[in-house]
Amino acid sequence: MTIRKNWVLTAICAAILAGCGGSDHSTPTTTTAATDPDTVADQRAAALVAQMTLDEKIQMVHGIGAQLAPLGGDGTIPGIPRLGIPDFYTTDSSTGVLQILNGVVQPNGSTAMPSPLALAASWDPTLAHDYGAQIAKELRVRGFSEGLGAGVDLARELRNGRTWEYLGEDPVLAGYMIAARTQGTQEQKVIATIKHYAANDQETNRYISNSIIDERTLRELSLLPFEIGVKVGQPGNIMCAYNLVNGVKSCQNSYLLTDVLKNEWGFKGKVQSDWYMAITDTEQAANAGTDEEEGGSTNDSVGYLGLVPTFFNQKLEAAVTAGTVPMTRLNDMVQRRLRTMIRVGVMDSPATLGGTIDQAAGDTATYNAAIQTMVLLKNATPASSSTPVLPLNASTIHSIVVIGGHADAGVMAGGGSALTPPRDGINAVKCLVDPSTMIAVGIPACATYYNSAPLDAIRAKAPNATVTYLDGTDANAAAAAAAAADVAIVFGTQFETEGADLSSLSLPNSTTDPANQAYDQNALIAAVAASAKRSIVVLENGTAVTMPWIDNVHAVLEAWYPGMQGGPAIADVLFGTVNPSGKLPITFPMADTDQPQKAISPTDTNVVYSEGLQMGYRWYDAQNIQPLFPFGYGLSYTTFGYSGLSTSMDVSGNLTATLTVTNTGKVDGAEVVELYAALPPAAGEPPRRLIGWQKVQLAAGSSKQITISASAERLAIWDVTLGQWRIPAGAFTFYAASSSRDSGALTSTRTLSSKVVPISD
Ligand code: BGC
Repeated sequence: MTIRKNWVLTAICAAILAGCGGSDHSTPTTTTAATDPDTVADQRAAALVAQMTLDEKIQMVHGIGAQLAPLGGDGTIPGIPRLGIPDFYTTDSSTGVLQILNGVVQPNGSTAMPSPLALAASWDPTLAHDYGAQIAKELRVRGFSEGLGAGVDLARELRNGRTWEYLGEDPVLAGYMIAARTQGTQEQKVIATIKHYAANDQETNRYISNSIIDERTLRELSLLPFEIGVKVGQPGNIMCAYNLVNGVKSCQNSYLLTDVLKNEWGFKGKVQSDWYMAITDTEQAANAGTDEEEGGSTNDSVGYLGLVPTFFNQKLEAAVTAGTVPMTRLNDMVQRRLRTMIRVGVMDSPATLGGTIDQAAGDTATYNAAIQTMVLLKNATPASSSTPVLPLNASTIHSIVVIGGHADAGVMAGGGSALTPPRDGINAVKCLVDPSTMIAVGIPACATYYNSAPLDAIRAKAPNATVTYLDGTDANAAAAAAAAADVAIVFGTQFETEGADLSSLSLPNSTTDPANQAYDQNALIAAVAASAKRSIVVLENGTAVTMPWIDNVHAVLEAWYPGMQGGPAIADVLFGTVNPSGKLPITFPMADTDQPQKAISPTDTNVVYSEGLQMGYRWYDAQNIQPLFPFGYGLSYTTFGYSGLSTSMDVSGNLTATLTVTNTGKVDGAEVVELYAALPPAAGEPPRRLIGWQKVQLAAGSSKQITISASAERLAIWDVTLGQWRIPAGAFTFYAASSSRDSGALTSTRTLSSKVVPISD
């Protein structure tokens, strides 16, 4: 498929040149002077491996612990000066540079970008590229040659505490977005990570849960974003996950790591274990295909942090000496690390600490990202008006009341290793419990807020209006203030963190989130909606929320965790300086129990994907369940019309859709045009799947013809008998749509013959 034709084509060409679809990772035997960078990297790495002692090889394949001097961060692998191999530092970078030194978070001046889920809502691979590049620049300034961002597990379970860290529920959207981010990162000479491989879809029992998935579902859904990410993005690093897949730990799973990732997809980088207990057996992990143990230890009999057993130091050395892990395998592990360092550029130009982060550039980058990620979910016309409530017109509004969500202080961020600390290290909001309180082992209960108050930004947009703030603790007072004001804006927040799942998608209250919520948010919104002339809800959240009050509010703006410039970004969208263009990367269900998994079991570690292929919107479509807001949905301050859809197909089965998009409204705006396919009924697929999209910027009144390309694999099913992708025979219907449930979608049909798709993308 093509999103932005240029970059995908470039990427595919690069992939072809690199032979990324191939499966030969053996050490090159020729020494003729190569020029292509992959061969050069392979040959240089092989020459280094040939000079190494056993101890040196072992040194290359395990970290020596985390949070160590001089840089802090998550992992350190000391270099080998006699061979010119530099020290190597890695750290978390899902939203910015997280640097922890000796247990203390370092406010290092890095920029907190909007959440990755927000990034997915932009549907903009160019933005994903720039997001990766921005964080990579800051990683290098802080001395890190590798970043542990970012995750791409699918939102199979919306209550997953890490939904905010991932890229939504669709494998194609997530796959191309992670590929673009990866390219943006590695162009800055920082090794990019794609994690957590695979099917790491909830946090409950996270070290021991076992995702039980049939092969077709695994290939068509859970693995597909990784497949696209690897083939198109060519990351240097894949982090294998804590959980088991079909009974085998991900980092000890030779099917996942060697058969699929390395041999079938042609991954040439290294596989790195997740930090705690991802490995439980030296031979199984090394022989299955894990190339690097993290956090690792200088002494396997002590382990990581003295708590977690480790396996790739003395234990691995003993296994290699005993022959239970072949020397050829150890050589391959080292080769993969070194060729990645050479290929990405960190061997010859390692990151060095000493520079200063350009905070102004960071502010611009995070603001630009935030304004492209927000999703306008509702924009109704109040009874007293002839126009929708948004955008707000500062010249006609005399009074605004802003309510709740700590909008006077800042914007919320998600928790865990994907959190970027505030630049000054100060949480803009005082927690309601002791800040050292944990909700799970090592998981702080308190949300972090960045000092970027929406209230200040709203005041700046409406200098002639009276703008008041109420903290939301008194719903009656809020309702009264809302009745008296021209506009009421209520902020709703939902704190999500690594290490714990949400009990519900209901906006949390003082019982379900006592650390961060002083009142019942749903009751507050309902009270304000009942009395306000114009009511607007702004959400800062990590996953879907249910909205029992939806019929009674005029507008809902989904702001996600908007990053360090969230306040101005929210205000600029509310006042129309920016026309929202995001669309949902996840389905918002009406109720928790509309999800295929009714509840997350706290005790049963077997997580059975009994919905099979019906993940995300596929479930709601197949089961005929009306979502609150469907996947791919989002409004604009303008309107768009589609016309003239036609499709063509080349001999390889690659599809191109062409149509014209017109901005039929009065303001400039950007539209995400989504291309879905309904496969022939005999294929046994859910009603439709996303196969491509194009985001197009259009001036008011203008039209543009666009093309959306989808590779043959996007039309294929995983044939478990053949063990290959195969286009099923029969009638396909293609939809050019503004959401997964667009009843006005344009359609085009084609009858296709059965065709096996070669292994490539
Ligand atoms: C998380 C990873 C993270 C690592 C290092 C793990 O617990 O699952 O996503 O990169 O810690 O912080």
